[in-house]
Amino acid sequence: MNRRPRQSRLVGKQERITIVRTLDDYSRVVAVRAIAYIDGQDCPFDEEFDGNDFCAMHLIGWLGDEPAACLRVRFFSDFVKLERLAVRPDCRGSTLAFRLVRHALRLSARKGYRYAYGHAQSGLEDFWSRFGARPIGELGAFEFSGRRYTEMMVELPAHNEAIRIGADPLVIIRPEGEWDKPGILEPKPATEPVEAAESATELVMSGDLAPEAATLATPESQPDGTSTAEIATPADDAAVPERWTADLQAAWRAFFEPQPSAQQHAA
Ligand SMILES: CC(C)(COP(=O)(O)OP(=O)(O)OC[C@H]1O[C@@H](n2cnc3c(N)ncnc32)[C@H](O)[C@@H]1OP(=O)(O)O)[C@@H](O)C(=O)NCCC(=O)NCCS
Repeated sequence: MNRRPRQSRLVGKQERITIVRTLDDYSRVVAVRAIAYIDGQDCPFDEEFDGNDFCAMHLIGWLGDEPAACLRVRFFSDFVKLERLAVRPDCRGSTLAFRLVRHALRLSARKGYRYAYGHAQSGLEDFWSRFGARPIGELGAFEFSGRRYTEMMVELPAHNEAIRIGADPLVIIRPEGEWDKPGILEPKPATEPVEAAESATELVMSGDLAPEAATLATPESQPDGTSTAEIATPADDAAVPERWTADLQAAWRAFFEPQPSAQQHAA
């Protein structure tokens, strides 16, 4: 593939991830994919924009104020499909690709999904394996749009605050990914968010939550300023299911690594 040398204009700008909520945002996704796939991989327009964009969640990776990367997530009954991961050639080599995938996996786990599935382009299997993805399927590699792909799957840990029927209906209607802060449709909370976070922590300390919640999710500020409940960091190795292979356990721990701070990436 044609990998152009990285240019300098955006290097060092702050990285952040947002969810597409407007047509303007979607046009940013179109721009990134047009560059990365139509130009970068000689992909025909109708194959790149395949009719699935309006039944998906899209994430944008930003470098400063510029849309530099994107990822599409489609939701099936018991798995999510990650696809159309793209980073503009002039922005490659940042951590955006990794942040996008990790963010999508976390959002998916919060929505209750246990499996993420994707088609890894030939040569990118190692990239996906960093997230715990393993090749699956009888076929091995297969082909479409003139490229070879491998079916891969990531097993996601159960999120103990996964949004299910029975969850607070006002939480369910909050904007996608912003399930931990009151939405426009509900009255302001009586307590400040800080106090709410503290009381959640107290509950864990006093053991009032389910014992299997050794991994309690706590609200965490996202680089984009939103507050998405993160899956908790395991308190110790015992929190990792023993039945998992060493590879899966390692991937699971990597998955929960704390997000680097914005400053670390602004350097
Ligand atoms: C794949 C992509 C998103 C990775 O983003 P990035 O910013 O380039 O990330 P990195 O530079 O850290 O590359 C990640 C790894 O993938 C490798 N890689 C990137 N593009 C590659 C390609 N076309 N073929 C083989 N390996 C590739 C890099 O060498 C790197 O591996 P390494 O860390 O072992 O050196 C980006 O290259 C891209 O947009 N490519 C075009 C679209 C695409 O192929 N999407 C993936 C579909 S599965």
